[in-house]
Amino acid sequence: MAEAARKARVAILISGRGSNMAALIAASRADRSAYEVALVFSNVPDAPGLGIAADAGIPIASLDHRGRGGRAAFDAEVLSILRGHGIEYVALAGYMRLLSEPFVTAWEGRMLNIHPSLLPSFTGLDTYARAIAAGCRLAGCTVHFVTGELDGGPIVAQAAVPVRDDDTPATLADRILAEEHRLYPAALDALCAGRLRIAGQRVLGLAR
Ligand code: GRF
Repeated sequence: MAEAARKARVAILISGRGSNMAALIAASRADRSAYEVALVFSNVPDAPGLGIAADAGIPIASLDHRGRGGRAAFDAEVLSILRGHGIEYVALAGYMRLLSEPFVTAWEGRMLNIHPSLLPSFTGLDTYARAIAAGCRLAGCTVHFVTGELDGGPIVAQAAVPVRDDDTPATLADRILAEEHRLYPAALDALCAGRLRIAGQRVLGLAR
């Protein structure tokens, strides 16, 4: 029998509920997945997502960012935790921390984020309310490489949903979240399988 291909070791970084994390874990369990979730890390020790990960049998770690001597010192500690677990790729999934330059550089081309807008529109927070207020007929989500520019790295994948007349930020968020759960595992799998190539601001190779 052929030996199963080795899966890439991914860490997922979260700060909250972890629904994208759960979708990434579920997808990783397919035989043909190119990655395994080797660690879930949180800067919020009581983040609900940590419990979900532990219940799924995933190693977890947390470190409260408060009182750690600033962003650079905290990120250096996180980096050493990730290295200690032999992590090869990082997926940010609702990780509510700005990242220091050395951390970003350490994972250049190997760290993804999911953002709930069709980038480059609506970087930052309150994306749903801003898309509705701007009169957008489409909203959505984006998986992108992480660079030093907030929500500004090369785009890997996007999904769009219609904005309905009666949408509130909450109803729009729900519709987008369902797309996030489909989009993120596919993008991470493509990265870990070595299919993606960054060409300037473009990413090639997502489609099989
Ligand atoms: C999602 O809306 C994601 O797009 C954003 O943070 C939220 C995380 O939600 N980056 P969850 O913790 O994955 O449920």
